[in-house]
Amino acid sequence: VASASTGSAARDGWSSRSAFILAAIGAAVGLGNIWRFPTLAGESGGGAFVFFYIACVFLLGLPLVLSEVFIGRAGQTDAVGSIKKVARDSGASESWSIFGAVGAMAAFLILSFYSVVAGWVLYYVGVMGADLLGAIAAGEPFRGALAGESQEAIQGRMGNLFASPGLLLAMHLVFMGGTLFIVARGIGSGIEKAATWLMPAFFVLLVGITIYGAFVGDMGDAIAFLFTPDWSKLTPAVMNSALGQALFSLSLGVAGLITYGSYINEGSKLGSTSATIAIADTSVALLAGLMIFPIVFAVGLDPAAGPTLVFQTLPFAFQSMPAGALIGFLFFVLILVAAITSSISLLEVPTAYGIGERGWSRRQSALIFGGGAFVVGIACLLGYNVWADVRLLGFWPLFAETDILDTIDGFTGKVMLPLGALLTSVFIGWKADRKMVQEVTGLEGPMFAIWRFLIAWLCPLAVTIILITGLFPAVL
Ligand code: PFF
Repeated sequence: VASASTGSAARDGWSSRSAFILAAIGAAVGLGNIWRFPTLAGESGGGAFVFFYIACVFLLGLPLVLSEVFIGRAGQTDAVGSIKKVARDSGASESWSIFGAVGAMAAFLILSFYSVVAGWVLYYVGVMGADLLGAIAAGEPFRGALAGESQEAIQGRMGNLFASPGLLLAMHLVFMGGTLFIVARGIGSGIEKAATWLMPAFFVLLVGITIYGAFVGDMGDAIAFLFTPDWSKLTPAVMNSALGQALFSLSLGVAGLITYGSYINEGSKLGSTSATIAIADTSVALLAGLMIFPIVFAVGLDPAAGPTLVFQTLPFAFQSMPAGALIGFLFFVLILVAAITSSISLLEVPTAYGIGERGWSRRQSALIFGGGAFVVGIACLLGYNVWADVRLLGFWPLFAETDILDTIDGFTGKVMLPLGALLTSVFIGWKADRKMVQEVTGLEGPMFAIWRFLIAWLCPLAVTIILITGLFPAVL
């Protein structure tokens, strides 16, 4: 039955079910939760976006999480090899494995800009860390952040960073180097170990800063903003971005969970495992909202500030808050921790592909793909200064105005992730052998029927709609 490992005996794997869950939550929880989600919720007017997002997570995201974990669990090798195996065992064409390759490519591209954005976080860890040290040296460890700096000066820090290719490059290098180091060490002693240390630290920080926000910030306004739906704000564009955000946040469509699932080598309750991942990821996004918005509202800042909300708005807010220097520093450490447990999963997807399909060693494969993503990331960061005029896909109206980083972010998020999710749902809903699916997932009775309906009908339909509205906004 499904409990015996079919992979080679030498293959690395998770030490337990909870290790897998922790690593998968680490992959899911990242910049998407703490930077992208509050940004989008703020820009889209709050409540209606949040409710639609939650619906997307549970109706589309959760069935897809289970599908990806199933493929990996059944395949026991990299994404391309795992899909081939499930296809073979189901009497379907092996060319379905193309979505594993597209996924690995998407993961590689996302990693390239993810590392650049994480580099900004690293820079702010440095800025706030230096400020905290200064506060301690001055005998005022509990003072506000960046004491004495004007609002313009604080917000200008981001512009200064963007204007400096050298600084951006240094941060990107350090972050990618750390990611590569962990992935090169493998599953058990690299990725699992990182997750078991970093995720608990992450949760303590998240809950701690949220409680702090509840005391010193404006929790009432934040709750009203996030949970009072104004349905008139739920435009097709907002639905589109909520759907895209659900895929991004759950790490779907890039074969990440296929890859992580392939390291499960004992029978496992995949249904409840998948639900745990989806619930944890969504709770973290909501908690991040409840951490950030009370602070934003307390100092009367604009929740719709956009991508700079976290980097420009919050440091200013921390200036006027008690212990702002300390909490501000911890806040950026929190984001950095979340980012690294996600970036390692992004690098693991192509790395596993190189090992499984090309026969490379783990180190060699991690170095090739990590190095490649580093180079692509350099183009992204130059897009803020020397290459500011470059429009990679300028011929395409959707990307006519976007810089290099936003173009790669937009192309992966609006095209590649939905495409990967669409192919996954069609493959699992219509091609994979039902008996095998039922046996490996362990889903029974009505749960299986509901899941099948969602994956075979709702996902393909809804995701096709995102793809079309994403690619051709004119149809809206
Ligand atoms: N889910 C991550 C986040 O929310 O930040 C981003 C991500 C990680 C996407 C890993 C895809 C992936 F394979």
